[in-house]
Amino acid sequence: MIKIFPSILSADFARIMEAVQLVEEAGADGLHIDIMDGHFVPNLTFGPELVASLKEKTNLLLDVHLMVENARHFIHLFAEAGADWLSIHAEGAVHLHYDLQLIKKLGKKAGVVLNPATPIHSLTEVINEVDFVLLMTVNPGWGGQEFIPGCHQKITRLKNWIKGQQLSLPVEIDGGVKIDNFEELIADGADIFVVGSGIYRTPDPAATLRRFKEIAAAQERKE
Ligand code: DX5
Ligand code: ZN
Repeated sequence: MIKIFPSILSADFARIMEAVQLVEEAGADGLHIDIMDGHFVPNLTFGPELVASLKEKTNLLLDVHLMVENARHFIHLFAEAGADWLSIHAEGAVHLHYDLQLIKKLGKKAGVVLNPATPIHSLTEVINEVDFVLLMTVNPGWGGQEFIPGCHQKITRLKNWIKGQQLSLPVEIDGGVKIDNFEELIADGADIFVVGSGIYRTPDPAATLRRFKEIAAAQERKE
């Protein structure tokens, strides 16, 4: 099933709850929350307090993407705050296997994130600990960037590689997803689509999200 997770990184931070309610009412399948520490990526965003506060006010699944150094230190904090899915970068973790097990022990879905330059085979030794793979289709740190064209092929290669491991894990993609490239990205094989500026920076974000959902439903009917 194709899912859309709007990313609040592109919302108006001073009106964050309005932005969340808007996508919840328009049919979002989850909410993507980008955590940046100013070290792993050169930008700063939110802490666990925001996640805890949102948890009280929305029923949306909370998909927390950790772009931080020392992710292990933050895993407990965000798990306690109410993250449902927690993803950590393969490039940032010295003990990736342990950290993924920790996320699962805390009762959360564990994801590995791969930057555009990180090869798929970095997953080889941890894939059995993983509930989903998050493929960066821009370099992390900012919303509103262009989709990196070479990632089309990487999505398909990742999907095939997962099948080759006799697994059926969802592939989530993050960065540069827009109405205009959505159908092509579905054809590439992605399952979950993080969309920031492609929803929140359009004139009518709710209508845009509904359009994403219509396109997804039409593609699913074809299959
Ligand atoms: C980028 C973040 C993304 C960001 C995507 O580092 O991980 O989640 O919100 O934004 P768009 O959809 O605008 O490329
Ligand atoms: Zn993200």
